[in-house]
Amino acid sequence: MRKKLRVLLVFDTPLTKPIGYDYKEEFKDIDWNTERDVYNALLDNGHTVRLLGINNDIKIFLEEIKNNKPDVIFNLVEVFDGKSHLDKNFVSLLEMINIPFTGSSAGGLLICNDKAMSKKILSYHKIKVPHFMTFYRKRKVWFSKRLRLPLVVKPLCEEASRGISLGSIVDDEKSMIDRVMFIHKNMQMDAIVEEYIEGRELYISVIGNKKIKALPPREVKFGNVPDDEPRIATYKAKWDEKYRKRWDIKNTFARNLANGMDKKMFDMCKRAYRALNMRCYARFDIRVTNNERMFIFEANANPCLAKNDEVAQSAEKAGISYNELIQKILRLAFKRDN
Ligand SMILES: Nc1ncnc2c1ncn2[C@@H]1O[C@H](COP(=O)(O)OP(=O)(O)O)[C@@H](O)[C@H]1O
Ligand SMILES: [Mg+2]
Repeated sequence: MRKKLRVLLVFDTPLTKPIGYDYKEEFKDIDWNTERDVYNALLDNGHTVRLLGINNDIKIFLEEIKNNKPDVIFNLVEVFDGKSHLDKNFVSLLEMINIPFTGSSAGGLLICNDKAMSKKILSYHKIKVPHFMTFYRKRKVWFSKRLRLPLVVKPLCEEASRGISLGSIVDDEKSMIDRVMFIHKNMQMDAIVEEYIEGRELYISVIGNKKIKALPPREVKFGNVPDDEPRIATYKAKWDEKYRKRWDIKNTFARNLANGMDKKMFDMCKRAYRALNMRCYARFDIRVTNNERMFIFEANANPCLAKNDEVAQSAEKAGISYNELIQKILRLAFKRDN
């Protein structure tokens, strides 16, 4: 890899802006942390960077590629035309134009965005996941005694805890069916119903392609949430600062894990990374029970890369500065086989 590269940083935007737009105003807003952090790191690392926001128009992307011929594309596109499942379609396009790009393959996104499909593959590889059932729209919704209560009802293909509140934890047949119907009707999405795993919630980031490395675990702590209430990272618990303060919900480094637990979790996540054919970087959301059983409940391809988010925090703890992390990810774009 050359030292100085022409990098095209692509991300999703709510509006289409002209080619060459500088995004200075937008980058002042905290909602744009990731784009701004990655942009600054790429510049600090000495690269020439062009910015391109993608809303619902693929033509401007093709035009940008044709006119400015980047050496590599740093891909932060998570939605296309407001639809999060189209992120994989954008990556399919990247795969077709034959320019190195960062992050997951289209196949990796397809598998990981579907919370059931990823679990089916993991369980084939004997990696523990919660027992689950899927309920697709316009089909019968029924309660199966095969699953042990309590259950968590989630949209099948969503992220960032959209559609997840305390009402997502259900303890009887009627509440389960009601919640599934709620997701079908109000969110227009299919649903997955999983057994609720009681335990500590940890986040493990993994980076690499052939040679992969798991980074120090992060944990969400539910400080003031009463013991008899479900401790889950609802939408509010993740994104509402006031709510987080009130219940003393914090993301920190995981401490006081039982002896040897780190290695067991790392091995599990690295096996999962390979099983799911993940590339470049990923994050696993896992739960560890009191008796040290570990379950992966979500595999995240292309997780958030903001400086203050889990991947970057874990990297920093492992001695990899933010700029180094972004440089590593960029380098991995040239070393991929899918
Ligand atoms: N099977 C489960 N057992 C316990 N808690 C769960 C389970 N599934 C989800 N949760 C809780 O809900 C949160 C969001 O679920 P997740 O599957 O990670 O969806 P998202 O893609 O929205 O992050 C998790 O961080 C966790 O707190
Ligand atoms: Mg998650």
